[in-house]
Amino acid sequence: MTSQPIGFLDSGVGGLTVVKEALKQLPNESIVFLGDQARLPYGPRPTEEVAHFVQQIAGFLLDQHIKALVLACNTATAAALPILQAKLPIPVVGVIDSGSQTAVKVSTGQRIGVIATEGTIKSHAYQRAISNLSPNASIEGLACPEFVTVVEAGKYHAPQTDQLVDDQLRYFKTHPVDTLILGCTHFPLLVDSIRKAMGPSVTLVDSGVETVSVIKQLLADEQLLNTDGAMKQPQFYTTGDVDSFTAIAQDWLQMTELNVQHVPVEQ
Ligand code: SIN
Repeated sequence: MTSQPIGFLDSGVGGLTVVKEALKQLPNESIVFLGDQARLPYGPRPTEEVAHFVQQIAGFLLDQHIKALVLACNTATAAALPILQAKLPIPVVGVIDSGSQTAVKVSTGQRIGVIATEGTIKSHAYQRAISNLSPNASIEGLACPEFVTVVEAGKYHAPQTDQLVDDQLRYFKTHPVDTLILGCTHFPLLVDSIRKAMGPSVTLVDSGVETVSVIKQLLADEQLLNTDGAMKQPQFYTTGDVDSFTAIAQDWLQMTELNVQHVPVEQ
């Protein structure tokens, strides 16, 4: 059991930001990732539809004999985490609780911002998680769906991206925060532009990074960490275009040799 892979899922390439952290924090673990690029973006879709897609993908990853599942997507976490935790026979972790816990811990004035997709903001999942931990916290949620489009188009290094991010995040000039949660796993690819727009006094929290610490602890508690050293090369699947997925994954993960395969899904 311990040498089985950990499964990661996302609507697209954003979950690779979580995989990148997992490769650092869990170097002995095998990884299987699926990005549902054919049906991206999840953010504007109804909750029930996202929950249906996520259960389909979880089924595919279970067939790859995963020992734990990470919902490396905030919209998927908001729509389907409790359903999967109730249904699956393996540990399932999402990205919202861990990001909220870290934000509450590091925030100096409990003025916390969340940027995410429309689906995540409308679900109020961050607002609930943060209020449970810190009832007096003030929370500012802002949907930034265009950031997902920019990242999926591979334009996260483009010069005009700074301007787009700055324009979107201008909201926080009139709604100031001391801590900002990157509540979409696509957004860490824009971290340089986000840092420039928010300035040095605002602490940025990457929910995905925090989630890997949580899954690491959970695997240790359940005695599921790989101990036999038989770790395999990560296996990537996309429901979309293999070439564009591979180009972004190679750039972001700084890996030249990648195993990427296409998986068809109903549209
Ligand atoms: C999206 O597909 O809209 C992005 C999903 C997410 O990371 O929340």
